[in-house]
Amino acid sequence: MISRRHKIYLALFCAFIFFILYRPNTSTQMSSKLSLPVVIVGSGLAGLSAGNQLVSKYKIPIVLLEKASTLGGNSIKASSGINGAVTSTQKALNVEDSTDLFYQDTVKSALGLGIPALQEKLSNESSSAVTWLQQEFDLKLDLLAQLGGHSRPRTHRSSGKLPPGFEIVKALSDALKSISEENPDMVTIYNNSKVVDLDIEKGKVQAVQYVDENGESKVIKTNHIVFCSGGFGYSTEMLEKYAPQLRHLPTTNGAQTTGDGQKILEKLGGDLIDMTQVQVHPTGFIDPANRSSNWKFLAAEALRGLGGILLNPSTGRRFVNELDTRDKVTAAIQEDCPQDENRAYLVMSESVYAEYKNNMDFYLFKKLIKKTTVSDFAQELPISEDDLSKELETYSTAKEDTFGRSLRVNTFESGISKDSTIYVGEITPVVHFTMGGVRINENAEVIGKNGEALAEGLYAAGEVSGGVHGGNRLGGSSLLECVVFGRTAANSIMSKL
Ligand SMILES: Cc1cc2nc3c(=O)[nH]c(=O)nc-3n(C[C@H](O)[C@H](O)[C@H](O)COP(=O)(O)OP(=O)(O)OC[C@H]3O[C@@H](n4cnc5c(N)ncnc54)[C@H](O)[C@@H]3O)c2cc1C
Ligand SMILES: *[C@@H]1O[C@H](CO)[C@@H](O)[C@H](O)[C@H]1NC(C)=O
Ligand SMILES: *[C@@H]1O[C@H](CO)[C@@H](O)[C@H](O)[C@H]1NC(C)=O
Ligand SMILES: *[C@@H]1O[C@H](CO)[C@@H](O)[C@H](O)[C@H]1NC(C)=O
Repeated sequence: MISRRHKIYLALFCAFIFFILYRPNTSTQMSSKLSLPVVIVGSGLAGLSAGNQLVSKYKIPIVLLEKASTLGGNSIKASSGINGAVTSTQKALNVEDSTDLFYQDTVKSALGLGIPALQEKLSNESSSAVTWLQQEFDLKLDLLAQLGGHSRPRTHRSSGKLPPGFEIVKALSDALKSISEENPDMVTIYNNSKVVDLDIEKGKVQAVQYVDENGESKVIKTNHIVFCSGGFGYSTEMLEKYAPQLRHLPTTNGAQTTGDGQKILEKLGGDLIDMTQVQVHPTGFIDPANRSSNWKFLAAEALRGLGGILLNPSTGRRFVNELDTRDKVTAAIQEDCPQDENRAYLVMSESVYAEYKNNMDFYLFKKLIKKTTVSDFAQELPISEDDLSKELETYSTAKEDTFGRSLRVNTFESGISKDSTIYVGEITPVVHFTMGGVRINENAEVIGKNGEALAEGLYAAGEVSGGVHGGNRLGGSSLLECVVFGRTAANSIMSKL
């Protein structure tokens, strides 16, 4: 006979053994296998995604090196949103989509360039990327827009005041900062710290070299490095080399966008692909207060996706399907509009204003768009106010669109006349995104010229990498690429420990 007290002891003993064998805490296992932190280069969405996945999911410590004084790179400027196919937001809004349809849109847009396996992975994992942002960081991402080249509305943003890039970057960087405060061994963030070289020995990453805020050269020992250093759209030197025909165009990119990662990785033997593929976004705002500035504020593609149209200044008429892919809309502006000016008008209805109010208020505040009337705006065009009203009405009501635009939402009010309110900005094509970069595989490993992984422990994600977008990137797919491949790099590091 076992006494009641013995039964309790036995139960406690079994529970203790069970706990020893199956304790869920992986962090102690981790630190024994990984003595050095993972180094992440760049604090845009790719770096922040890799960092959060490593730290929160796998308890792997990181050092984040950022050369600018502030975090977020170009990611923080994103204004249209992030793509996802077959998401809960789409379901809630009754949008039927499929990963295959997204894949086909991506391939069609890529014009035969890029790496199909990466494009497939991007589409396949788009829904889980959006879910990750919603669940781990409490982001709503409850609204959709249909951008150029997409056959469904699948570009997500949140209702509320913050633009998508800012909202997402803030949530992910705040998460890392708060872990860093509680547990400095887990997350170290150095800003004003520019990575200049890597040390690779015996086929394996050994260290990274950077210049710190005081201009001093420093070394961090590490066996894992994830390059998330962004594109090269601001570098006249690199544009001159890869796309000399574009070097005279203004850009939307921040001054830090100089292709450091591409240069460092190429020098080490990395395979750069599609480097000549530079995306010119059709709509950068011309600031009336500084028309010739080389830096332009982006007129988000959502402005067209949610209803904006383009008018040719020399005819006062539409000239293109505004929701064709970016390369085609840009070509139309360059060919049809006055070539010495390279500009067009972006015209929006009162209901575009209502649907995109926070952004529109910001553009109004910056004086990049103005609230005006049909008759006032007609003064700037070679056509009469009646002809302008007719042009806007035809667009809004025609059964078949003259330019084959299939999505016409938030059109101009019925019975539009000379007194109707419209919103108008001036736009010009701008260097926006560099599709090319260092070749990666589906594990986000950097690939060398011989087609093999360049070094053990070397990864890249985001705009620094090439192959995801081929010859033309779809709007919303860059933020997506950052989340998908940033997390993939983290998963790969974990799986090889
Ligand atoms: C105005 C604008 C609007 C956009 N809107 C959208 C949108 O709505 N949807 C979408 O999908 N995409 C959009 N894009 C594109 C997208 O924002 C970026 O291409 C994408 O976020 C790139 O992310 P990333 O993490 O790869 O690089 P980035 O966000 O550019 O971050 C790279 C970081 O690396 C740092 N860095 C570079 N070199 C070094 C070095 N040597 N050492 C240390 N740090 C270094 C940089 O300072 C930078 O902070 C937009 C781009 C712009 C410019
Ligand atoms: C970065 O550097 C500046 C000083 O240049 C400092 O004020 C700022 O708080 C630093 N940290 C971050 C995370 O931005
Ligand atoms: C994408 O998903 C399809 C269908 O589930 C699958 O057959 C394919 O292997 C996936 N591709 C990648 C690259 O993950
Ligand atoms: C115009 O823009 C350029 C480049 O961004 C800037 O250097 C210059 O100060 C601006 N000029 C005015 C008048 O704002």
